[in-house]
Amino acid sequence: MTLTFQNLRKHYGSNVAIDDVSTSFAPGLIHGIIGPNGAGKSTLINMTAGSYTVSSGAIHLDGSNLCGLQKFEVANQGVARTYQNIRLFDQMTVLENLEVCYYPQAVGQAWKEILWPPFATEREARRRAACMELLSFFNLQGYAEAEAGSLPYGRQRMLEIARALVTNPRVLLLDEPAAGLNHHETAELTSRLAALKSPERVMIIVEHDMDLVMSLCDRIVVMHHGKLLFEGTPAEVQASTDVQTAYLGTANDIDDIKAAAEDRRAQLGIRARRRS
Ligand SMILES: Nc1ncnc2c1ncn2[C@@H]1O[C@H](COP(=O)(O)OP(=O)(O)OP(=O)(O)O)[C@@H](O)[C@H]1O
Ligand SMILES: [Mg+2]
Repeated sequence: MTLTFQNLRKHYGSNVAIDDVSTSFAPGLIHGIIGPNGAGKSTLINMTAGSYTVSSGAIHLDGSNLCGLQKFEVANQGVARTYQNIRLFDQMTVLENLEVCYYPQAVGQAWKEILWPPFATEREARRRAACMELLSFFNLQGYAEAEAGSLPYGRQRMLEIARALVTNPRVLLLDEPAAGLNHHETAELTSRLAALKSPERVMIIVEHDMDLVMSLCDRIVVMHHGKLLFEGTPAEVQASTDVQTAYLGTANDIDDIKAAAEDRRAQLGIRARRRS
């Protein structure tokens, strides 16, 4: 079960966002996608999840083409995602945010729930238990009945990942899961993501936090101006002079880049506090 991009292109009018990208993502590994702002990372996620159409090329999962499918059809193929800017159902409780995503698994037998109430009760209990287990995995069980929109920003990020996992996806796409998190929350996130690694799952993480990417990912794809610039292990990426010059700048610039990432984190933190 491999996810494959084949000569993928995406343009918005005359702006070429993705330019002939071919690569594949094996299960059992955590894949990072990195690159400067505007490199095309989110566009890759959006096309894979069916949120954006593909201009040309193909995206195959286990041999079947995902291109041209509606978002819900892609989800039914086992693809789940989170967003660069959190998109929860703010007015619903934390538990309900998960339960609504559980529903598609049950829809085929909805008629039985209507005709046989004990069946419905039993299924509701099972659904709740499964969702509570996921909440506990992310240490969110204490928030189960809270409104999702009222959660601290870091908890909302965790909840979004928990929600993406409700369908037990074969492909998990995370767009900047650490954005706006403090160091403690980032460490917690890193350990949770490491625990989600499974031979049955392709995990792709778009991230600017280089410490997280280098410590968590088995393989990294480097995007630059819509093109795939480099792919390899974290050590290979760090050793690549192409990546150094095109993405990280010269070795002397690395401290500046880390400082810029800190600024970005601080800005997001300010925004997060305003939201809550
Ligand atoms: N909906 C859209 N309409 C028009 N242009 C878009 C759209 N989404 C992305 N783009 C453009 O496509 C290019 C790639 O954007 P994308 O969001 O994929 O970059 P990114 O690597 O995720 O950047 P960042 O790190 O800032 O999130 C950019 O030039 C961007 O302006
Ligand atoms: Mg992006």
